[in-house]
Amino acid sequence: MSRLKIAIQKSGRLFEDTLKLLKDAALKIEISDRQLKTSVSNFGADVLLLRNSDIPEYVADGVADIGVIGYNTLVESQKKVEEVYRLGFAKCRLSIAVPKDSNYRGIKDLEGKKIATSYPNSLRIFLEKNKISAKIVEISGSVEIAPQIGMADYICDLVSSGNTLFINNLEEKEVLFESEACVIAQKNLSDSQKTILKDLLFRIESVLNGRKHKYIMMNVPKQNIDKVFEILNGLKSPTILSLADENWKSVHSVIAIKDQWEIVQKLKEIGAEDILITSIEEIIP
Ligand code: PRP
Repeated sequence: MSRLKIAIQKSGRLFEDTLKLLKDAALKIEISDRQLKTSVSNFGADVLLLRNSDIPEYVADGVADIGVIGYNTLVESQKKVEEVYRLGFAKCRLSIAVPKDSNYRGIKDLEGKKIATSYPNSLRIFLEKNKISAKIVEISGSVEIAPQIGMADYICDLVSSGNTLFINNLEEKEVLFESEACVIAQKNLSDSQKTILKDLLFRIESVLNGRKHKYIMMNVPKQNIDKVFEILNGLKSPTILSLADENWKSVHSVIAIKDQWEIVQKLKEIGAEDILITSIEEIIP
């Protein structure tokens, strides 16, 4: 029986979130110090811990079958792999930023400039697409400091909160693309590996879906029960249960976390009491 080799970062921004996601999907993964490969004891997969920038190549070559990386790493690698799932965490963007006092007016002002980046391929593609001729200065880290030390005029780097740009007196001007963690796969998966991947993605989707929702329970005065239907836009219609006190009903439903406080406010307005909200581990459609 073939197994699925999953490549994940051995360190870096995605490591902890990726490992947590796989563990939340009920994969038993034990990693000890310096270990670069581990078998998942309760699932048909092995986990390889690799350097982030190496993952697309290992997947393209079939050394690993799938990998979890940032979309930014995938674009920069230019490797022929399939992007099979977007995971919704590690959101950031690859952007060009300029010193605050640089009087930048628009993309044409990139012409003839020196731009420091750890993303030369992504930047080159962007410049070519926009017919801009600029010098790409490739550096591997601390890109934000390049304008201050005279190494480049502008920079092209990942921006997440924007704090790093702010601290270094830089302003974000052009967004090359948005990025987030994603699952990539090699193109020659066997049928049994495809089945394992499908099972894994189903579990991941259920976990991610659970993280976006909460389970809500409350007591509502009987005469206002119709108004509850207007407020709760759960998965299907809410569950209504009778209580010993005939004047009250118990209502259970699932709500999106992003709407939670707006919903609670509206429920209070129609007299809901004893509102309990709990986390959901998975939602299986
Ligand atoms: C990235 C990027 C910036 C920083 C931006 O570095 O290179 O330095 O994050 O994030 P912010 O907008 O939230 O400040 P990262 O910490 O991922 O490490 P790296 O330098 O190895 O890329």
